[in-house]
Amino acid sequence: MKKDKAAKQRKAARKRWMRLIKKQISGKRKSKKRSLEKKKQEKRLKELLQQYGTDILKSDNFLKSEKYIQHGNVSVMRHSISVAKHSLLLAKHLGIKCNKRDLIRGALLHDYFLYDWHSKEHAGLHNLHGFYHPGIALANAKKEYRLNRRQSDIIKKHMWPLTVVPPGYKEAWIVSAADKYCSLMETLHLHRGGKRRKR
Ligand SMILES: [Fe+2]
Ligand SMILES: [Fe+2]
Repeated sequence: MKKDKAAKQRKAARKRWMRLIKKQISGKRKSKKRSLEKKKQEKRLKELLQQYGTDILKSDNFLKSEKYIQHGNVSVMRHSISVAKHSLLLAKHLGIKCNKRDLIRGALLHDYFLYDWHSKEHAGLHNLHGFYHPGIALANAKKEYRLNRRQSDIIKKHMWPLTVVPPGYKEAWIVSAADKYCSLMETLHLHRGGKRRKR
């Protein structure tokens, strides 16, 4: 009788182990699938940015904005790229059909003010940066690129409600929302793949 009981206990323990191992294997498979999907999504986002914004991404002034901090430890350049990617993701998740070219170009140029707003030089105007930088970004962008109405609206209204007049295109609403989300994540150091740097 004792032998039977011990055999039953061993069998039950073996089953428990098998269940645990199977659970772990399936969990690993799921997380592997998720990370593959994320890689695929990131690759697609990069391709879209290259397709519609390669001239901006390679331009001297855009590359120069890597020197300027936007929020937390994230540069203006990385912030702008992140806003463009999150704008595409937001449009996709909400099922909003929009003009991808304008969405990307507007997002890449939305903070094209080309100065370090934390520097002593701009310290006096520091508190007003939020109000005046969309206008400066638009003027700078117009000097280098031919902007259509939608792209201009994205840049000009991205700080709404500070800009008072609300965005006039769905693309501008999307970029404004993505900008707020990215800014919050960067300020709280919660953004993905953000590199922490000493200021
Ligand atoms: Fe901005
Ligand atoms: Fe921004």
